Amino acid sequence: MTVAELNALRITLSPLPKHVGIIMDGNGRYATRRGLPRSMGHRAGTERLRGIIKLSSDLGIEALSLYAFSTENWKRPRIEVDTLFAIFMEYFTKEVEDLHKNNVAIRAMGNIAALPEKVYAQCMAAMEKTKNNTGLKLNIALNYGSRAETVNAVKSIALDAKEGRLNIEDIDEECVMSRLYTSGLSDVDLVIRTGGEQRLSNFMLLQSAYAEFVFTDTLWPDFSDECYIAALGEFAHRNRRYGGLDGK
Ligand code: IPE
Ligand code: IPE
Ligand code: MG
Repeated sequence: MTVAELNALRITLSPLPKHVGIIMDGNGRYATRRGLPRSMGHRAGTERLRGIIKLSSDLGIEALSLYAFSTENWKRPRIEVDTLFAIFMEYFTKEVEDLHKNNVAIRAMGNIAALPEKVYAQCMAAMEKTKNNTGLKLNIALNYGSRAETVNAVKSIALDAKEGRLNIEDIDEECVMSRLYTSGLSDVDLVIRTGGEQRLSNFMLLQSAYAEFVFTDTLWPDFSDECYIAALGEFAHRNRRYGGLDGK
């Protein structure tokens, strides 16, 4: 896309969300429908990442949070979980350098310390390498669950209170939100879920309190740049009231 085309798109899609969350679902079905093993669907899914990240960056979206592996996904057969981790490793190895060049700041959200050692090390290295970048904030939710995230925040608040660093009266919404993985980022404005299901599956429950939702039947590996643009266009037409009155 040329600069002029991008500028025109930015105007058409205005107002753009500052923070987009994507529940990238439907990889397994994409593969099964083609008579392929589910792992091929996960591979096809990672192929879509480059385009969606680039477009987010080019449009000037501040933050993009991608749901890659949930705390509940451990329930899947061991072979699928292992393959997913192998695919994440390949992805990081292949893409981090380019993301860095494109000024993207990577943050892994979730209990990454419980991931296989190599995956953990890759996540830490990617975060360290890109930590001073000032472009798109790319959050990859890996071994992420909103409830587990909330439990961690509660524990950290309890510890600070117990050790006298925090008065109970000073616990407010900001105090809770600042202890989530998304600390320092704005709330999620738009949650997109591909793959036809209409649920959050434990994704960013607190951060999406006032998010708009776009659910699409398109399976994640089929979710083209055009599909993303259509979702952003739908967002632009939503009327967000935050509990107030129309237009106020
Ligand atoms: C999403 O695709 C990727 C992960 C959850 C890791 P799925 O693997 O859930 O695909 P479906 O829903 O079975 O089609
Ligand atoms: C949500 O998809 C998790 C990710 C996309 C990483 P799932 O396929 O795990 O969700 P459910 O089981 O359909 O709710
Ligand atoms: Mg699924």
